[in-house]
Amino acid sequence: MKRLPFVNMKIAFVGKGGSGKTTLSSLFIRHLAAAGAPVVAIDADINQHLGPALGLDEAEAAALPAMGDRLRLIKNHLRGSNPRIASAETMIKTTPPGEGSRLVRVREPNAIYDACARPVELDGGAVRLMVTGPFTDADLGVACYHSKTGAVELFLNHLVDGPDEYVVVDMTAGSDSFASGMFTRFDMTFLVAEPTRKGVSVYRQYKEYARDFDVTLKVVGNKVQAQDDVDFLRKEVGDDLLVTVGHSDWVRAMEKGRPPRFGLLEETNAAALHRLKSAADATYALRDWEHYTRQMAHFHLRNAESWGNERTGADLAAQIDPGFVLGEGVATPA
Ligand SMILES: Nc1ncnc2c1ncn2[C@@H]1O[C@H](COP(=O)(O)OP(=O)(O)OP(=O)(O)O)[C@@H](O)[C@H]1O
Ligand SMILES: [Mg+2]
Repeated sequence: MKRLPFVNMKIAFVGKGGSGKTTLSSLFIRHLAAAGAPVVAIDADINQHLGPALGLDEAEAAALPAMGDRLRLIKNHLRGSNPRIASAETMIKTTPPGEGSRLVRVREPNAIYDACARPVELDGGAVRLMVTGPFTDADLGVACYHSKTGAVELFLNHLVDGPDEYVVVDMTAGSDSFASGMFTRFDMTFLVAEPTRKGVSVYRQYKEYARDFDVTLKVVGNKVQAQDDVDFLRKEVGDDLLVTVGHSDWVRAMEKGRPPRFGLLEETNAAALHRLKSAADATYALRDWEHYTRQMAHFHLRNAESWGNERTGADLAAQIDPGFVLGEGVATPA
């Protein structure tokens, strides 16, 4: 397996509705920002709440540009001069990069950030925030050409993240992300689970999908109140339980619109965030760009056959560039 000597992380927070995905994503993003790390934060959750959780007021959150409304721009930027992708119309959410494609980086300025990202000031520095925009019924279908998470998947598939850079995605554990391959795009997936049967059942489902795809999955127990809660999670998910988080008065104060300094977050919760970062960073040794690129092709072929070829009238398998491997060394045409 190819090992690359740097830490660069794509991290997803998934879990049942209301489990605390957005809350924990936002705390983790604040933790990274406080450590001075460059961060792209992406809200791909059905309920778009990451902006407010990062301290934006209602008007600021409402003014965030939706990636879902800018799919054509995103596709045209990414396909660049790739001769295998004739037009934005034939580019579906799984269309992989190849020779001539434009790759994206966490720190650079680019047309996608210009159109879709907004800076959010946090204690310790600014992060880039992008949001998919509100979901419709059509976005939740398996075979959706215009799906909002498709914008995120395209972004991730063209991303070469460098040393100590982070992309954090607040995401729903829906069928859309399983069918498209989105769930395989992360170095680390944190599954947020309350200590309840429902919380754990989402974990089981995710684990089942993830089994054949080398997805690194860790459970973050949330709203854990007592030892009995910890014991329950331990019994149900075993060693996949990474850490547990209790009720946070800091979070409650933030939700009242009175965010304290991040440095005042409860010590136990700050320690939990530290654990998350260490666990994510530790996966760097597993990064394998060839495998990652092959997975893109796998899901692209699956989507091409099941709906993409018919929808676009093109042979989408021909979009796969057999000699191309995504990675740090790949040059992007201007
Ligand atoms: N550790 C915590 N301490 C205090 N409040 C919490 C904690 N975790 C979550 N909450 C609260 O629980 C509610 C649901 O959390 P959150 O919105 O983060 O969940 P979610 O999984 O993103 O939900 P949705 O599926 O609706 O997007 C919020 O009001 C949040 O503030
Ligand atoms: Mg949420």
